[in-house]
Amino acid sequence: RKVVLAYSGGLDTSVILRWLIETHGCEVVAWCADLGQGEELEPLREKSLASGASAFVLDDLRETFVRDFVFPALRAGAVYEGEYLLGTSLARPCIIEGMMAAVKAAGADAIAHGATGKGNDQVRFELGALHFDPQVQIIAPWREWDLKSRTDCIAYAKQHGIPVTATVEKPYSMDRNLFHCSFEGGILEDPWAEPPRDMFLLSRDPADAPDAARFVEITFEAGNPVAVDGEALGPVALLERLNAVAGEHGVGRVDVVEDRFVGMKSRGVYETPGGTLLHKAHRAVESLTLDREVMRIRDALVPEYAALVYRGFWFSPEREMLQAMIDQTQRRVSGTARLKLYKGNVTLVGRRSEASLYREDYVTFEKDTVYDQADATGFIRLNALRLRLRAMRDGTSS
Ligand code: ARG
Ligand code: SIN
Repeated sequence: RKVVLAYSGGLDTSVILRWLIETHGCEVVAWCADLGQGEELEPLREKSLASGASAFVLDDLRETFVRDFVFPALRAGAVYEGEYLLGTSLARPCIIEGMMAAVKAAGADAIAHGATGKGNDQVRFELGALHFDPQVQIIAPWREWDLKSRTDCIAYAKQHGIPVTATVEKPYSMDRNLFHCSFEGGILEDPWAEPPRDMFLLSRDPADAPDAARFVEITFEAGNPVAVDGEALGPVALLERLNAVAGEHGVGRVDVVEDRFVGMKSRGVYETPGGTLLHKAHRAVESLTLDREVMRIRDALVPEYAALVYRGFWFSPEREMLQAMIDQTQRRVSGTARLKLYKGNVTLVGRRSEASLYREDYVTFEKDTVYDQADATGFIRLNALRLRLRAMRDGTSS
């Protein structure tokens, strides 16, 4: 059996690598994706080979991650349970797509991952894997072995001569990519406990942010961001730029209790600096360019779209259906929004578009030549008809 392991070089996946060899007698290909986690990944080659991997593969998926996963969700205005911009939920299908290509290239027949049996990530990886290869074998060590904790992992590592890196293990679990950084578990498990100041990686503490506000303009074409302050940027560079700008001003932190697909609630803290700006700016351009009814119906579907992405159904007929519909609405969503960042806050201060439905000549409270105010009389009277009929039947007092 030849298995491709989603390998991060951390303690868990290092232990898994050895465990696969020892207990399953597998040949293991250590596969790692660059999603902009901000770490040196090339050193993992030597590390994985030293731990017994037969090969190490590093795939740079940053461009596809932003263009084909983050931007589609942004076009959809996707937010889970009102706050979470889905940074991990979007990374998982991107990772599994790349990993399944590696499975094919290596002629492997199985995958392994380090997601626990309690979380969402296992579902996201495995639904995606089975979409790409309905026959693939899946090994999820956390659901199989008798290591129960981090301490067990460290003991196993020591026993098998796996180097446990000197870097002090963080007292929480993190998942970082170009779009966000998530923190959960450990000291965050108490939902009353405020996260430590030094936990955050992508944003400054708002209290330490500059005293002067920063203005930033984001331009969209057909629902996709294409420029910052008038400078055209590709997806990765654009997101990096916005992360830097928003992070500097402490923008994009949320602290939530969310519902995992498996049924439990979980406390999570997220930093999505650039994404927070994009979400707000996109909506502002839509406010000028989208039809009222289209927006209303689309908005009703946002929780649906977000929940199915959260639950791992990126590669599903229902996500494709919603995406096709949403993308159809985005054809005229082109224009620029102007944001003001100040000490953790982002305020929308301007928007403009060549495709605007906003007409000052119609809306003005000054004298106009296009709108007949007398038309409103019949409009209101007919809208009131059913209200009047009900009142005539029932009376209005109750
Ligand atoms: N709770 C978030 C989600 O389900 C983040 C998960 C973070 N994953 C991790 N391996 N630390 O999308
Ligand atoms: C995990 O359980 O591996 C991480 C958290 C999650 O997937 O929700």
